[in-house]
Amino acid sequence: MALKILTVFGTRPEAIKMFPLVHALRGDSRFVSRVCVTGQHRGMLDQVLAIAGVAPDHDLNVMQPDQSLDALTARLLTGIGQVLDAERPDWVVVQGDTATAMCGALAAYYRKIPVAHVEAGLRSGNIHHPWPEEINRKIIGTMARLHCAPTETAADALKRENTDPAAIHVTGNTVIDALHWVTAQIREKPELAAGLTELEARFAGKRIIGVTSHRRENFGDGMQGIARAIRQIAARDDVALIFPVHLNPHVQSVMEAELAGLDNVALIAPLDYPHFARLIDIATLMLTDSGGVQEEAPALGKPVLVMRETTERPEGVEAGTARLVGTDSDRIVAETFRLLDDSDAYAAMARAHNPFGDGHSAHRIVELLATG
Ligand code: UD1
Ligand code: UDP
Repeated sequence: MALKILTVFGTRPEAIKMFPLVHALRGDSRFVSRVCVTGQHRGMLDQVLAIAGVAPDHDLNVMQPDQSLDALTARLLTGIGQVLDAERPDWVVVQGDTATAMCGALAAYYRKIPVAHVEAGLRSGNIHHPWPEEINRKIIGTMARLHCAPTETAADALKRENTDPAAIHVTGNTVIDALHWVTAQIREKPELAAGLTELEARFAGKRIIGVTSHRRENFGDGMQGIARAIRQIAARDDVALIFPVHLNPHVQSVMEAELAGLDNVALIAPLDYPHFARLIDIATLMLTDSGGVQEEAPALGKPVLVMRETTERPEGVEAGTARLVGTDSDRIVAETFRLLDDSDAYAAMARAHNPFGDGHSAHRIVELLATG
Protein backbone atom coordinates (compact mmCIF):
# COMPACT_ATOMS: atom_id res chain seq x y z
CA MET A 1 0.00 0.00 0.00
CA ALA A 2 1.28 3.46 -0.89
CA LEU A 3 2.31 5.63 2.03
CA LYS A 4 0.36 8.85 2.39
CA ILE A 5 2.72 11.78 2.99
CA LEU A 6 1.35 15.17 3.98
CA THR A 7 3.77 18.05 3.50
CA VAL A 8 2.82 21.16 5.48
CA PHE A 9 4.32 24.57 4.73
CA GLY A 10 3.28 28.19 4.64
CA THR A 11 6.05 30.74 4.11
CA ARG A 12 8.34 31.60 1.19
CA PRO A 13 11.47 29.83 2.46
CA GLU A 14 9.57 26.69 3.44
CA ALA A 15 7.97 26.53 -0.01
CA ILE A 16 11.35 26.93 -1.72
CA LYS A 17 12.88 24.18 0.41
CA MET A 18 9.86 21.85 0.19
CA PHE A 19 9.05 21.97 -3.53
CA PRO A 20 11.92 19.62 -4.44
CA LEU A 21 10.44 17.09 -2.03
CA VAL A 22 6.93 17.56 -3.41
CA HIS A 23 8.33 17.04 -6.92
CA ALA A 24 10.16 13.87 -5.83
CA LEU A 25 7.12 12.43 -4.02
CA ARG A 26 4.68 13.00 -6.84
CA GLY A 27 6.82 11.06 -9.27
CA ASP A 28 7.09 8.02 -6.99
CA SER A 29 4.38 5.33 -6.96
CA ARG A 30 5.33 4.26 -3.42
CA PHE A 31 3.62 7.40 -2.13
CA VAL A 32 0.40 9.31 -2.18
CA SER A 33 1.45 12.93 -1.83
CA ARG A 34 -0.83 15.52 -0.24
CA VAL A 35 0.15 19.15 0.17
CA CYS A 36 -1.25 21.45 2.85
CA VAL A 37 -0.25 25.09 2.65
CA THR A 38 -1.20 27.27 5.58
CA GLY A 39 -0.90 30.57 3.73
CA GLN A 40 1.09 32.01 6.66
CA HIS A 41 2.54 34.09 3.82
CA ARG A 42 0.16 34.86 0.99
CA GLY A 43 1.81 36.68 -1.91
CA MET A 44 5.33 35.43 -1.21
CA LEU A 45 4.12 31.83 -0.89
CA ASP A 46 2.04 32.02 -4.06
CA GLN A 47 5.07 33.26 -6.04
CA VAL A 48 6.87 30.01 -5.20
CA LEU A 49 3.87 27.72 -5.80
CA ALA A 50 3.43 29.24 -9.26
CA ILE A 51 7.08 28.86 -10.29
CA ALA A 52 7.37 25.33 -8.90
CA GLY A 53 4.03 24.16 -10.30
CA VAL A 54 2.69 23.00 -6.93
CA ALA A 55 -1.10 22.92 -6.53
CA PRO A 56 -1.98 22.48 -2.85
CA ASP A 57 -4.69 20.04 -1.78
CA HIS A 58 -5.46 22.23 1.24
CA ASP A 59 -4.96 25.98 1.67
CA LEU A 60 -5.73 27.34 5.13
CA ASN A 61 -5.23 30.97 4.05
CA VAL A 62 -4.39 32.04 7.62
CA MET A 63 -2.38 35.20 6.93
CA GLN A 64 -3.60 38.43 8.45
CA PRO A 65 -1.88 41.81 8.15
CA ASP A 66 0.76 42.33 10.86
CA GLN A 67 -0.17 39.03 12.50
CA SER A 68 0.82 38.39 16.11
CA LEU A 69 2.64 35.17 16.94
CA ASP A 70 -0.01 33.93 19.37
CA ALA A 71 -3.03 34.52 17.11
CA LEU A 72 -1.13 33.06 14.15
CA THR A 73 -0.17 30.00 16.20
CA ALA A 74 -3.78 29.43 17.29
CA ARG A 75 -5.10 29.65 13.71
CA LEU A 76 -2.39 27.32 12.45
CA LEU A 77 -2.81 24.67 15.11
CA THR A 78 -6.58 24.34 14.71
CA GLY A 79 -6.47 24.60 10.92
CA ILE A 80 -3.74 21.99 10.46
CA GLY A 81 -5.44 19.71 13.00
CA GLN A 82 -8.60 19.67 10.89
CA VAL A 83 -6.62 18.75 7.77
CA LEU A 84 -4.89 15.93 9.64
CA ASP A 85 -8.24 14.56 10.83
CA ALA A 86 -9.49 14.57 7.24
CA GLU A 87 -6.34 13.12 5.66
CA ARG A 88 -4.97 10.74 8.34
CA PRO A 89 -1.53 10.64 6.66
CA ASP A 90 1.21 8.11 7.47
CA TRP A 91 3.76 10.91 7.81
CA VAL A 92 3.62 14.66 8.29
CA VAL A 93 6.65 16.47 6.88
CA VAL A 94 7.58 19.95 8.09
CA GLN A 95 10.55 22.13 7.19
CA GLY A 96 12.66 24.51 9.21
CA ASP A 97 11.53 26.65 12.09
CA THR A 98 8.50 28.77 11.24
CA ALA A 99 5.24 28.95 13.17
CA THR A 100 3.71 26.76 10.44
CA ALA A 101 6.39 24.10 10.92
CA MET A 102 6.07 24.11 14.70
CA CYS A 103 2.26 23.88 14.59
CA GLY A 104 2.37 21.21 11.88
CA ALA A 105 4.57 19.05 14.08
CA LEU A 106 2.50 19.70 17.20
CA ALA A 107 -0.82 18.92 15.50
CA ALA A 108 0.67 15.67 14.17
CA TYR A 109 2.09 14.75 17.58
CA TYR A 110 -1.34 15.31 19.16
CA ARG A 111 -2.65 12.64 16.77
CA LYS A 112 0.35 10.31 17.15
CA ILE A 113 1.22 10.76 13.48
CA PRO A 114 4.99 10.50 12.89
CA VAL A 115 6.76 13.72 11.98
CA ALA A 116 9.69 14.11 9.61
CA HIS A 117 11.68 17.29 10.13
CA VAL A 118 13.50 18.67 7.10
CA GLU A 119 16.43 20.99 7.95
CA ALA A 120 16.70 19.58 11.46
CA GLY A 121 19.36 20.45 14.01
CA LEU A 122 20.09 24.09 13.21
CA ARG A 123 21.01 25.86 16.45
CA SER A 124 22.32 29.34 17.22
CA GLY A 125 22.47 28.57 20.94
CA ASN A 126 20.52 31.76 21.71
CA ILE A 127 16.74 31.55 22.15
CA HIS A 128 16.36 35.24 21.28
CA HIS A 129 18.39 35.11 18.02
CA PRO A 130 16.70 34.22 15.76
CA TRP A 131 13.41 34.80 17.51
CA PRO A 132 11.19 32.81 17.73
CA GLU A 133 12.82 30.31 15.33
CA GLU A 134 15.41 28.88 17.73
CA ILE A 135 12.63 27.67 20.02
CA ASN A 136 10.39 26.52 17.17
CA ARG A 137 13.04 24.16 15.83
CA LYS A 138 13.89 22.83 19.27
CA ILE A 139 10.21 22.08 19.89
CA ILE A 140 9.95 20.28 16.53
CA GLY A 141 13.12 18.33 17.33
CA THR A 142 11.60 16.95 20.51
CA MET A 143 8.62 15.52 18.58
CA ALA A 144 10.09 14.36 15.27
CA ARG A 145 10.60 10.68 14.46
CA LEU A 146 12.89 11.43 11.51
CA HIS A 147 15.47 14.23 11.61
CA CYS A 148 16.84 15.22 8.19
CA ALA A 149 19.91 17.23 9.13
CA PRO A 150 21.44 19.32 6.34
CA THR A 151 25.02 18.96 7.61
CA GLU A 152 27.16 16.98 10.08
CA THR A 153 27.21 20.07 12.31
CA ALA A 154 23.42 20.02 12.52
CA ALA A 155 23.40 16.26 13.16
CA ASP A 156 25.94 16.74 15.98
CA ALA A 157 23.76 19.40 17.59
CA LEU A 158 20.87 16.93 17.71
CA LYS A 159 23.08 14.21 19.20
CA ARG A 160 24.23 16.61 21.91
CA GLU A 161 20.55 17.02 22.83
CA ASN A 162 20.24 13.24 23.27
CA THR A 163 18.17 12.70 20.14
CA ASP A 164 18.12 9.03 19.13
CA PRO A 165 21.13 8.78 16.76
CA ALA A 166 19.31 6.19 14.63
CA ALA A 167 16.67 8.81 13.81
CA ILE A 168 19.20 11.40 12.58
CA HIS A 169 20.30 11.39 8.93
CA VAL A 170 22.51 13.84 7.10
CA THR A 171 20.61 14.52 3.88
CA GLY A 172 21.97 17.92 2.78
CA ASN A 173 19.71 20.91 2.47
CA THR A 174 16.93 20.85 -0.12
CA VAL A 175 17.64 24.54 -0.82
CA ILE A 176 20.49 23.40 -3.06
CA ASP A 177 18.08 21.08 -4.93
CA ALA A 178 15.79 24.10 -5.37
CA LEU A 179 18.64 26.31 -6.56
CA HIS A 180 19.79 23.71 -9.10
CA TRP A 181 16.23 23.31 -10.34
CA VAL A 182 15.63 27.01 -10.78
CA THR A 183 19.02 27.54 -12.42
CA ALA A 184 18.20 24.81 -14.95
CA GLN A 185 14.80 26.42 -15.59
CA ILE A 186 16.43 29.80 -16.23
CA ARG A 187 18.98 28.21 -18.56
CA GLU A 188 16.13 26.70 -20.57
CA LYS A 189 13.88 29.77 -20.44
CA PRO A 190 15.93 32.94 -19.80
CA GLU A 191 12.77 35.04 -19.92
CA LEU A 192 11.89 33.60 -16.48
CA ALA A 193 14.52 35.91 -14.97
CA ALA A 194 14.46 38.75 -17.49
CA GLY A 195 12.45 41.16 -15.33
CA LEU A 196 15.55 42.83 -13.87
CA THR A 197 16.78 44.05 -17.28
CA GLU A 198 15.63 47.62 -16.76
CA LEU A 199 17.36 47.91 -13.37
CA GLU A 200 20.48 46.26 -14.77
CA ALA A 201 20.59 48.91 -17.52
CA ARG A 202 19.95 51.74 -15.07
CA PHE A 203 22.84 50.56 -12.87
CA ALA A 204 25.24 49.62 -15.70
CA GLY A 205 28.85 50.19 -14.66
CA LYS A 206 28.10 50.07 -10.94
CA ARG A 207 28.72 47.16 -8.63
CA ILE A 208 25.45 45.64 -7.48
CA ILE A 209 24.79 44.81 -3.84
CA GLY A 210 21.75 42.62 -3.18
CA VAL A 211 19.98 43.26 0.13
CA THR A 212 17.28 41.46 2.12
CA SER A 213 16.10 41.95 5.69
CA HIS A 214 13.12 40.72 7.66
CA ARG A 215 14.04 39.19 11.03
CA ARG A 216 11.62 39.90 13.85
CA GLU A 217 14.46 40.24 16.40
CA ASN A 218 15.88 43.05 14.24
CA PHE A 219 12.67 45.15 14.37
CA GLY A 220 13.42 48.52 15.96
CA ASP A 221 17.10 49.35 16.49
CA GLY A 222 18.46 46.51 14.34
CA MET A 223 16.42 47.47 11.30
CA GLN A 224 17.22 51.16 11.77
CA GLY A 225 20.92 50.23 11.84
CA ILE A 226 20.56 48.25 8.62
CA ALA A 227 18.71 51.12 6.90
CA ARG A 228 21.35 53.65 8.05
CA ALA A 229 24.10 51.40 6.71
CA ILE A 230 22.42 51.14 3.30
CA ARG A 231 22.09 54.93 3.16
CA GLN A 232 25.82 55.34 3.90
CA ILE A 233 26.86 52.69 1.40
CA ALA A 234 24.66 54.37 -1.22
CA ALA A 235 26.66 57.57 -0.77
CA ARG A 236 29.30 55.93 -3.01
CA ASP A 237 28.66 56.45 -6.70
CA ASP A 238 30.31 53.18 -7.78
CA VAL A 239 27.63 50.94 -6.22
CA ALA A 240 23.90 50.32 -6.53
CA LEU A 241 21.78 48.44 -4.03
CA ILE A 242 18.84 46.29 -5.12
CA PHE A 243 16.59 45.55 -2.18
CA PRO A 244 13.45 43.43 -2.65
CA VAL A 245 11.58 44.47 0.47
CA HIS A 246 9.81 41.80 2.54
CA LEU A 247 6.05 42.42 2.77
CA ASN A 248 6.05 42.62 6.56
CA PRO A 249 4.73 46.15 7.31
CA HIS A 250 7.43 46.63 9.99
CA VAL A 251 10.10 46.18 7.34
CA GLN A 252 8.34 48.17 4.64
CA SER A 253 7.72 51.23 6.83
CA VAL A 254 11.34 51.55 8.02
CA MET A 255 12.90 50.98 4.62
CA GLU A 256 10.49 53.32 2.80
CA ALA A 257 11.02 56.05 5.38
CA GLU A 258 14.82 55.77 5.38
CA LEU A 259 15.67 54.86 1.80
CA ALA A 260 12.98 56.01 -0.65
CA GLY A 261 14.19 58.45 -3.29
CA LEU A 262 17.90 57.52 -3.22
CA ASP A 263 19.17 57.33 -6.80
CA ASN A 264 21.19 54.16 -6.47
CA VAL A 265 18.91 52.24 -4.10
CA ALA A 266 16.11 50.26 -5.75
CA LEU A 267 13.46 49.31 -3.20
CA ILE A 268 11.42 46.76 -5.10
CA ALA A 269 8.68 44.20 -4.44
CA PRO A 270 9.74 40.67 -3.40
CA LEU A 271 11.21 38.88 -6.40
CA ASP A 272 10.04 35.47 -7.48
CA TYR A 273 12.66 32.75 -7.13
CA PRO A 274 14.17 32.89 -10.66
CA HIS A 275 14.57 36.65 -10.38
CA PHE A 276 16.13 36.38 -6.94
CA ALA A 277 18.58 33.79 -8.24
CA ARG A 278 19.41 36.26 -11.02
CA LEU A 279 19.94 39.01 -8.43
CA ILE A 280 22.50 36.87 -6.57
CA ASP A 281 24.12 36.13 -9.91
CA ILE A 282 24.61 39.80 -10.88
CA ALA A 283 25.51 40.94 -7.35
CA THR A 284 29.07 41.60 -6.20
CA LEU A 285 27.97 40.69 -2.69
CA MET A 286 24.85 40.08 -0.61
CA LEU A 287 23.84 41.89 2.58
CA THR A 288 21.19 39.89 4.40
CA ASP A 289 19.68 38.66 7.63
CA SER A 290 17.99 35.75 5.81
CA GLY A 291 18.63 32.10 6.54
CA GLY A 292 18.17 30.82 2.99
CA VAL A 293 20.30 33.52 1.39
CA GLN A 294 23.21 32.49 3.67
CA GLU A 295 23.01 29.08 2.01
CA GLU A 296 22.45 30.19 -1.58
CA ALA A 297 25.03 32.99 -1.91
CA PRO A 298 28.04 30.78 -1.02
CA ALA A 299 26.75 28.12 -3.40
CA LEU A 300 26.84 30.75 -6.17
CA GLY A 301 30.29 32.03 -5.13
CA LYS A 302 29.06 35.34 -3.72
CA PRO A 303 30.32 36.76 -0.41
CA VAL A 304 27.54 37.24 2.10
CA LEU A 305 27.60 39.66 5.01
CA VAL A 306 25.10 38.41 7.57
CA MET A 307 23.40 41.26 9.44
CA ARG A 308 22.72 39.27 12.59
CA GLU A 309 24.40 38.71 15.95
CA THR A 310 24.42 34.90 15.69
CA THR A 311 23.94 32.28 13.03
CA GLU A 312 22.69 28.72 13.07
CA ARG A 313 24.55 28.21 9.80
CA PRO A 314 28.20 28.34 10.88
CA GLU A 315 29.35 26.33 7.86
CA GLY A 316 29.51 29.40 5.59
CA VAL A 317 31.37 31.44 8.21
CA GLU A 318 33.84 28.60 8.84
CA ALA A 319 34.48 28.28 5.11
CA GLY A 320 35.13 32.02 4.89
CA THR A 321 32.35 32.77 2.40
CA ALA A 322 30.02 34.35 4.99
CA ARG A 323 30.77 36.84 7.74
CA LEU A 324 28.63 37.84 10.72
CA VAL A 325 28.49 41.63 10.90
CA GLY A 326 25.57 42.35 13.28
CA THR A 327 23.25 45.32 12.78
CA ASP A 328 25.48 48.19 13.83
CA SER A 329 25.60 50.52 10.83
CA ASP A 330 29.29 51.43 11.16
CA ARG A 331 30.29 47.77 11.18
CA ILE A 332 28.09 46.90 8.18
CA VAL A 333 29.50 49.84 6.21
CA ALA A 334 33.11 49.04 7.14
CA GLU A 335 32.78 45.36 6.16
CA THR A 336 31.04 46.26 2.90
CA PHE A 337 33.71 48.83 1.97
CA ARG A 338 36.45 46.34 2.79
CA LEU A 339 34.98 43.89 0.26
CA LEU A 340 34.53 46.64 -2.32
CA ASP A 341 38.00 48.15 -1.92
CA ASP A 342 40.27 45.24 -1.02
CA SER A 343 40.43 42.78 -3.88
CA ASP A 344 42.30 40.19 -1.78
CA ALA A 345 39.61 40.29 0.92
CA TYR A 346 36.99 39.95 -1.79
CA ALA A 347 38.74 37.05 -3.53
CA ALA A 348 39.09 35.23 -0.21
CA MET A 349 35.30 35.27 0.26
CA ALA A 350 34.14 34.88 -3.35
CA ARG A 351 34.69 31.16 -3.71
CA ALA A 352 31.93 28.81 -4.72
CA HIS A 353 31.38 26.76 -1.64
CA ASN A 354 28.63 24.33 -0.99
CA PRO A 355 28.63 22.90 2.50
CA PHE A 356 24.84 22.77 2.57
CA GLY A 357 24.09 20.09 0.01
CA ASP A 358 24.76 18.48 -3.36
CA GLY A 359 21.34 18.94 -4.94
CA HIS A 360 20.12 15.40 -4.17
CA SER A 361 18.65 15.95 -0.71
CA ALA A 362 15.01 15.44 -1.65
CA HIS A 363 15.68 11.94 -2.99
CA ARG A 364 17.53 10.98 0.18
CA ILE A 365 14.59 12.17 2.26
CA VAL A 366 12.12 10.25 0.09
CA GLU A 367 14.13 7.03 0.65
CA LEU A 368 14.09 7.63 4.40
CA LEU A 369 10.32 8.09 4.35
CA ALA A 370 9.92 4.90 2.32
CA THR A 371 11.88 2.81 4.81
CA GLY A 372 10.35 4.50 7.82
C1 UD1 B 1 8.13 34.31 8.85
C2 UD1 B 1 8.77 33.28 9.80
C3 UD1 B 1 10.29 33.38 9.74
C4 UD1 B 1 10.80 33.31 8.31
C5 UD1 B 1 10.08 34.35 7.46
C6 UD1 B 1 10.50 34.19 6.02
C7 UD1 B 1 7.58 32.74 11.88
C8 UD1 B 1 7.35 33.09 13.28
N1 UD1 B 1 8.35 33.58 11.17
O1 UD1 B 1 8.42 35.58 9.35
O2 UD1 B 1 10.85 32.32 10.48
O3 UD1 B 1 12.19 33.57 8.32
O4 UD1 B 1 8.67 34.13 7.55
O5 UD1 B 1 10.18 35.29 5.25
O6 UD1 B 1 7.06 31.76 11.41
N2 UD1 B 1 3.17 39.55 4.72
C9 UD1 B 1 2.42 39.84 3.61
N3 UD1 B 1 2.48 39.00 2.53
C10 UD1 B 1 3.29 37.92 2.50
C11 UD1 B 1 4.08 37.64 3.62
C12 UD1 B 1 4.00 38.45 4.73
O7 UD1 B 1 1.68 40.82 3.58
O8 UD1 B 1 3.33 37.22 1.48
C13 UD1 B 1 3.08 40.45 5.91
C14 UD1 B 1 1.75 40.30 6.66
O9 UD1 B 1 1.38 41.56 7.16
C15 UD1 B 1 2.12 39.36 7.81
C16 UD1 B 1 3.51 39.82 8.11
O10 UD1 B 1 4.10 40.09 6.85
O11 UD1 B 1 1.24 39.46 8.91
C17 UD1 B 1 4.36 38.86 8.91
O12 UD1 B 1 4.36 37.55 8.36
P1 UD1 B 1 4.82 36.31 9.30
O13 UD1 B 1 4.82 35.08 8.50
O14 UD1 B 1 4.04 36.32 10.56
O15 UD1 B 1 6.28 36.72 9.76
P2 UD1 B 1 7.61 36.88 8.95
O16 UD1 B 1 8.34 38.00 9.60
O17 UD1 B 1 7.35 36.91 7.50
N1 UDP C 1 13.90 35.04 -1.92
C1 UDP C 1 13.09 35.24 -3.04
N2 UDP C 1 12.76 36.51 -3.36
C2 UDP C 1 13.16 37.59 -2.65
C3 UDP C 1 13.96 37.36 -1.49
C4 UDP C 1 14.29 36.08 -1.15
O1 UDP C 1 12.72 34.29 -3.72
O2 UDP C 1 12.81 38.73 -3.02
C5 UDP C 1 14.23 33.64 -1.53
C6 UDP C 1 15.69 33.36 -1.32
O3 UDP C 1 16.29 32.93 -2.52
C7 UDP C 1 15.68 32.27 -0.26
C8 UDP C 1 14.40 32.53 0.51
O4 UDP C 1 13.62 33.42 -0.28
O5 UDP C 1 15.56 30.98 -0.84
C9 UDP C 1 14.69 33.14 1.84
O6 UDP C 1 13.51 33.57 2.43
P1 UDP C 1 13.49 34.58 3.65
O7 UDP C 1 14.73 35.41 3.65
O8 UDP C 1 12.17 35.29 3.59
O9 UDP C 1 13.42 33.61 4.91
P2 UDP C 1 14.53 32.85 5.78
O10 UDP C 1 15.35 32.04 4.86
O11 UDP C 1 15.31 33.89 6.51
O12 UDP C 1 13.73 32.04 6.72
